[in-house]
Amino acid sequence: MPRVYIETYGCQMNVSDSELILGVLRRDGYVAAAEPAEADVVLVNTCAVRDHAEQKVLSRLGELKQVKRPGGVLGVVGCMAQRLGPRLLERVPQVDLVVGPDGYRGLPELIARARGGGERAADVAFKAWEHYEDVPPVRETAASAFVTVQRGCDYRCTFCIVPMTRGPERSRNLADVVREVTDLARTGTTEVTLLGQTVNSYHDGAHDFADLLRAVGAVDGIRRVRFTSPYPTDFTDGVVAAMAETPAVCEHVHLPVQSGSSRVLKRMLRRYDRDRYLDVVAALRGAVPGIALTTDIIVGFPGETEDDFSETLSLVEQVGFDDAYTFKYSPREGTPATRLKDAVPDDVAGERLERLIALVRRLARQKNVGLVGTTHEVLVEGRAKRGGFLQGRTRTNKVALVPGPDAWIGDYRSVRLTGTTGSTFTARVIGQELAVVG
Ligand code: SAH
Ligand code: F3S
Repeated sequence: MPRVYIETYGCQMNVSDSELILGVLRRDGYVAAAEPAEADVVLVNTCAVRDHAEQKVLSRLGELKQVKRPGGVLGVVGCMAQRLGPRLLERVPQVDLVVGPDGYRGLPELIARARGGGERAADVAFKAWEHYEDVPPVRETAASAFVTVQRGCDYRCTFCIVPMTRGPERSRNLADVVREVTDLARTGTTEVTLLGQTVNSYHDGAHDFADLLRAVGAVDGIRRVRFTSPYPTDFTDGVVAAMAETPAVCEHVHLPVQSGSSRVLKRMLRRYDRDRYLDVVAALRGAVPGIALTTDIIVGFPGETEDDFSETLSLVEQVGFDDAYTFKYSPREGTPATRLKDAVPDDVAGERLERLIALVRRLARQKNVGLVGTTHEVLVEGRAKRGGFLQGRTRTNKVALVPGPDAWIGDYRSVRLTGTTGSTFTARVIGQELAVVG
């Protein structure tokens, strides 16, 4: 049986897509290989959101071509594949295949043609109907699963390459999503994360995201529902109410803000200003007590002044995010922002990024120190990398290291948080505290 190795970069959507690709190939008789050197087919699932992500893949391709087996196939899939298309075949001669996010159905055939030094090919056509509805994804984890509910993006944030790499937005039918989640629950999954680029703008023609949350939350055996990433202004009253009224929906929202300056938000073509974003934060906090909020922030967007940047700092302070992913603006070929004037010099952007990271860390630490001593339910996800602990996750998405046996993996436990590094926690299972300590 031919063996395939898939290496995944980028967001959760890519992780989910790699599970789909494995599903497509398994149907065709492939098995997964543990190492690239053992594989007949090596696929790299890529991200194109920042130049750094692409550079990492290019250097990785340099390593992978060294271990490529005679007659083997090296393919690049995902967003960077879509962005570069045939240019990638020219640039890296050892790459045989370049396939974008809507072309995975064709992989078995393209691989068959490329094997043994055959035909090299690029498929970067968008298929606005493609949902891979008939492909059973091959997933790694059991307790927690990603479920893609929407592909593509119709928004046009001026910095973002995603609309060009993932094509037009489309939502799966609610019934198909519920069927998949029901099947997952039957095989032991208790937590699902619904995925889409603007996931709360989900609409299948008859149902919106509020309907989807209620339907997925009602599936027997599903104890936790998460979703990422929502768009701030798509939190309608209906969606917020569905979150509040669906017990399985977790008390955490990743709410990308990008900037705290209304002037910059306008140039980014985000569909809200600072005040509107803060209204959404207030609505979520009003409806879901104790909700944790995380965000994405870009610094050094063209035209960002020191005043604009201070507004980002003040928004971060005002909201008090639990955590934030922070990025230096990276110009992406073909996106509208590359035509904007007043580029921010790299050293200025770098210095702003450092100040922002310091603030984010300080606020996160403050918040997390305040949580020590509180009790939470964690889903035990597996062994932590260090120290012989189990790793658990609270409904608010905090990571807690807990002493305990492997037998707990996949289960839920009530824990008391006993300490924090500032970002993660140590914890003990309630009821066993005495036994363990004493
Ligand atoms: N809708 C998706 C966005 C994907 S990109 C989501 O919300 O997950 C993920 C994050 O990368 C964005 O929120 C943004 O903060 C960052 N990003 C996107 N394009 C970027 C660019 N050109 N430079 C720097 N950061 C960028
Ligand atoms: Fe990108 Fe904006 Fe869509 S960040 S993925 S264009 S919502």
